[in-house]
Amino acid sequence: MAKNRRIFLAADPIVKVGPIRISQSIDIIDDVTIEFIRDHHEDMAASTVPRWKTAIAKAIAEHEKAVGECPPRPSPSNPKRSLMTPTSQVIQLASIDPSSPIPHVRSHIFREFVTPTSSPGLPLLLTTTDIRTPKTTQIISNPHVQIAWWIEGTQEQFRVSGVASAIPAPTNMLYKHFVHNVKHAKQTSAVAALTREGFDWEAKRMAMFRGMSGHMKASWCRPVPGSRLEGGEEEAKKWPVRLEEPGEHSTDEDRKNWEKALGNFALVIVDPTDVDYVELGVVPNRRTRFWKNGDGVWDEEALVP
Ligand SMILES: Cc1cc2nc3c(=O)[nH]c(=O)nc-3n(C[C@H](O)[C@H](O)[C@H](O)COP(=O)(O)O)c2cc1C
Repeated sequence: MAKNRRIFLAADPIVKVGPIRISQSIDIIDDVTIEFIRDHHEDMAASTVPRWKTAIAKAIAEHEKAVGECPPRPSPSNPKRSLMTPTSQVIQLASIDPSSPIPHVRSHIFREFVTPTSSPGLPLLLTTTDIRTPKTTQIISNPHVQIAWWIEGTQEQFRVSGVASAIPAPTNMLYKHFVHNVKHAKQTSAVAALTREGFDWEAKRMAMFRGMSGHMKASWCRPVPGSRLEGGEEEAKKWPVRLEEPGEHSTDEDRKNWEKALGNFALVIVDPTDVDYVELGVVPNRRTRFWKNGDGVWDEEALVP
């Protein structure tokens, strides 16, 4: 019986049994095994890390070696984050503004995956923003986004389609949209799984903010991004350049700036639904499409590049 449960060996040729694909290396599939697979396929698939996620993590690691980019990382002895971000973590995020037919795309930094402990098969992509930027209202009006992600060191492109949510401070008027998304999340979704686990999004937002460089933190207490630069460059020179967490010797101004920046800082999560993975570093080139079905289970097929 234990042998028959070897159903998720990626290297094995696969066949379909009911709604799932199983390894042809299974010699004997008895009725009990088939019943077991049918009963557990969702749990088992949700517990399998999707191959595209492993490929992204590997590509980021290999890029740093290949291109020689390896900035100092925050660590207990060096808690300050470097200003330099490896280019492998720069993604292009496209959103839709319902009032315009023009696509809206911009660079973002991919920060990390947020994955429910109970469902390693359902990773969310995490990036951060200023809640006052136009993209947040675009995402609230139409949460469908697409990410184009080229990782030079491994010559790989990941095009991730998904559904985004902006997560500002709970005091921000746009927070209610995130609350709505959580309330209406499908039971098979990552957000629902994280909610069941008691995931604390505000604690995550605080931790991400604290992990930013002083220079980055200061960017969230400038005037509204994209608004007219009143007063020109001279006015811009008055903006804070760095922010540090207020302490005993901080001024009221320091505290005000900290609160303002923290109030504007927001997380953006993308729940992937489809991943188009192109590998140009191999001959012949490879292209694979991954998609999440209605049960939250990832499937994949090879495409012509
Ligand atoms: C390399 C690079 C990384 C960036 N990373 C982010 C980011 O993580 N979050 C963000 O909000 N803006 C980031 N920006 C700025 C955006 O590209 C964009 O100019 C800004 O967010 C305003 O976008 P919007 O007007 O489309 O909302 C980055 C820009 C560059 C060049």
